[in-house]
Amino acid sequence: DIVAYATSKNITIIPEIEMPGHSVSVLAAYPEFACTSATTPFSVRCAWGISTDILCGGKESVRTFLKDVLEEVAELFPGKYIHIGGDEAPKNNWNTCDDCKARIVSKGITGADQTAKSNTLQKELVEEMAQFLAPKGKTVIGWDEVTHGGIPTGATIQAWNVGVNVGQITSAGHDVIMSNYTKLYLDSKQSTEVGEPGATWMGYNTLDVVYNYDPMPSGLTTSQQARVLGPEACIWTEELQTSEVVEYMLVPRLQAMAERAWTPNSLVNFEDFKSRLVSHFERFEYLNFNSRKLPVPQSSTKSIVSCEPVVL
Ligand code: ACM
Ligand code: ZN
Repeated sequence: DIVAYATSKNITIIPEIEMPGHSVSVLAAYPEFACTSATTPFSVRCAWGISTDILCGGKESVRTFLKDVLEEVAELFPGKYIHIGGDEAPKNNWNTCDDCKARIVSKGITGADQTAKSNTLQKELVEEMAQFLAPKGKTVIGWDEVTHGGIPTGATIQAWNVGVNVGQITSAGHDVIMSNYTKLYLDSKQSTEVGEPGATWMGYNTLDVVYNYDPMPSGLTTSQQARVLGPEACIWTEELQTSEVVEYMLVPRLQAMAERAWTPNSLVNFEDFKSRLVSHFERFEYLNFNSRKLPVPQSSTKSIVSCEPVVL
């Protein structure tokens, strides 16, 4: 139903199945998928954050499980992409796990630095999933950490950290999605005012910052630029308690991000955008969207005459 609803709005849903980190719930159900070095038991996390308990990179049974899941996901979602996560996966357990170390040896991964070898094991994991999905017409997306041990063949990379070497990744023939967290994580607060909702771990991010963020990194050649697919704004809801707050975070920063994404640099104009927001605010109000109100010109005489309420 969700896929069909999205399709009717020309939206493609890209599912994300996190591996090997952010998966403690899998370990709670299948503790045998943990590293030999992990300490059991596991319980489903009730708080957000990063866990050192990640899926074992060495065990064949983990790969079989992940492929079973991805097979079902590939059947459910008609889009070209499946996101396999890959972010925030500390290698503490992989570095000391017998199974991970054995696979590192069997894959011919060498070097003095154990974490570097574990990162390359993650690259190999991503490549196995990419190879599994390719015949099904799917491309994997991985967060930029999947490149720490080399860029996985067949993967599109989503850059959320600051300083990701987009030039290097695109030159190696990979597409990149830009999600610089300091600009495009829309769960960030919108001011320093007391009571302003939003994530506590980030700085704040105003409408003009989102509007003025050029998602095309500077210094890229034309062929490198051609591999930058565009920006993706993210909203994470660990610290957003209700749908109303989510709307408040998204609207109108999402409009700013969309206009920037679709406008040539020579035409971007924040003041002009702000004046055009006036009619958007009327629409948001009509649709009962909990938009974040801004100081905008009060001169609007526009009214909405033919707009049906959205039935969600
Ligand atoms: C991420 O924010 N960990 C992708
Ligand atoms: Zn392991």
